[in-house]
Amino acid sequence: MPKILVLDELSPQGLALLDAAEGFEYEVRLKLAGEELRKSLAEFDGAICRSGVKITAESLEGNTRLRCIARAGVGTDNIDKDAATRLGTVVMNTPTGNTVSTAEHAFCLMMALSRNVASANQSLVEGRWDRKKYMGAQLADKTVGIVGLGRIGQEFAKRALAFEMRVIGFDPFISSERAAELGIELYSSVKEMLPLVDYLTVHTPLTPETKGLIDQEALEIIKPGARLINCARGGIYDEAALVKGLKSGKLGGIALDVYAEEPCTDSPLFGMENVVCTPHLGASTEEAQTQVAVEAVQLVTNHLKSGE
Ligand code: NAD
Ligand code: MLT
Repeated sequence: MPKILVLDELSPQGLALLDAAEGFEYEVRLKLAGEELRKSLAEFDGAICRSGVKITAESLEGNTRLRCIARAGVGTDNIDKDAATRLGTVVMNTPTGNTVSTAEHAFCLMMALSRNVASANQSLVEGRWDRKKYMGAQLADKTVGIVGLGRIGQEFAKRALAFEMRVIGFDPFISSERAAELGIELYSSVKEMLPLVDYLTVHTPLTPETKGLIDQEALEIIKPGARLINCARGGIYDEAALVKGLKSGKLGGIALDVYAEEPCTDSPLFGMENVVCTPHLGASTEEAQTQVAVEAVQLVTNHLKSGE
């Protein structure tokens, strides 16, 4: 009987589907790494993960059994896909299940930044009634730049338009006709957008092109007071440059959900004024987790049944 290994927390609906799946056995083994992970993977035909476990080339070494890995989520950057491919292990993801939740979280971070929600809350619970200090900014009529106009970038754009923002964007793989249909003014580079943006949000994968996309040089040309949001992947913004940009007053605020190194429990940004940070919560809603878990279970069981 094919065996499926669940490597990260999966929603109850996903586990229920595994319970009901006839002809399969499954086990949940969390927080595996190193030799323990390698040995475990060798005992199973399929695996399901989120972003917690790191499936490296070493953890796949010598594996002659594992036929597929499903990532309950978008990014497969925690899986060594080259190593998996060499072994004939198929890597699959569930790209649409958390789109809306992540776009909502990025939007929520932009709003929280604009109205100082986190720092004003902190100040109030510490016993201060600081109405003057936390003067905010209205979103309507402001310009938001979106880098990456895929699933999440487009959902973000819809929401920004509903808030009467001007939406500009850059994505080398979208046509200007499609962007216009979406109400987005398309630019031919990020550099061109930077002097115009009151807010900048990134929704791309982390690639050699997007790594350090916003660095010291970019901050020199960005509009003074711009607020930056990253709910995509850590490393797209150079975190050291962000700290400098905030300290110098060039940046108006920073909101991060993702970090160059995760888990990240210590950063010079934590606790700074005009910074809101969350621990990679973009997809952490009941709805998104249910959907990605159910899809991941279906992908693995279908693949193991049919080899497709
Ligand atoms: P997607 O593939 O639908 O969209 C990505 C877009 O980025 C594509 O349109 C692509 O053309 C564009 N792109 C690629 N390289 C680019 C570049 N150099 N410059 C500009 N655009 C570029 O992906 P998605 O589902 O929208 O996800 C976007 C990102 O969000 C991914 O990195 C994903 O891992 C991340 N994500 C994070 C969370 C979270 O919890 N914070 C949740 C879901 C997804
Ligand atoms: C993703 O790529 O889907 C996200 O990082 C969300 C997650 O796995 O929590």
